[in-house]
Amino acid sequence: MTLLSRPPSTASGLDELATGIRAALSRRDDWRRTAQRVASVLRRHLPSPEVLTGIPPGVHSGAHPGVQEDPRGRLLHVEPDGAFSIQAIVWPAGRITRIHDHVTWCVFGVIQGAVDEELFTLGSGGDVLVPAGRTTNATGAVTGFAPPGDIHRVANTGDGTAVTIHVYGTDLSRIGSSALRFYDLPVGP
Ligand SMILES: [Fe+2]
Repeated sequence: MTLLSRPPSTASGLDELATGIRAALSRRDDWRRTAQRVASVLRRHLPSPEVLTGIPPGVHSGAHPGVQEDPRGRLLHVEPDGAFSIQAIVWPAGRITRIHDHVTWCVFGVIQGAVDEELFTLGSGGDVLVPAGRTTNATGAVTGFAPPGDIHRVANTGDGTAVTIHVYGTDLSRIGSSALRFYDLPVGP
């Protein structure tokens, strides 16, 4: 595995966001409550799209399958001890991830445009996915979740480009992706 360089968190607003997340993580808790606290921080410190200024594409990617090795994913911050990573993803119109779950808790906020999130559960036989809800997240929306029960896919179904900010409870520069498994299964009933 290639170790990727850690970008400095010098972009506007990122330092405040990272400081808030650090404080939220100082209180040990389970992943679900941790995600809720980090989501509260991201709501208070949601960066503007200008956060991407000066951050070259392709520094790192992999927050979602389908975005791996794609220059639209940009790693904005990795905590020195690897406790969390902040990543921006640029979503051209029509972009959609594969259905996947995650290695750890995740929080994301929309800073431009809108993205749709579809949730799924695994059927009792393990050979089919069951739809479990769909949400359109407009600019300003922040959502947090944690395994288990985190099977989803995300898409930009709008006409314009969307931009999202993701926080993951892991070191993306080390593991490369937050995705644990891909689910190439039929969706039904
Ligand atoms: Fe995801």
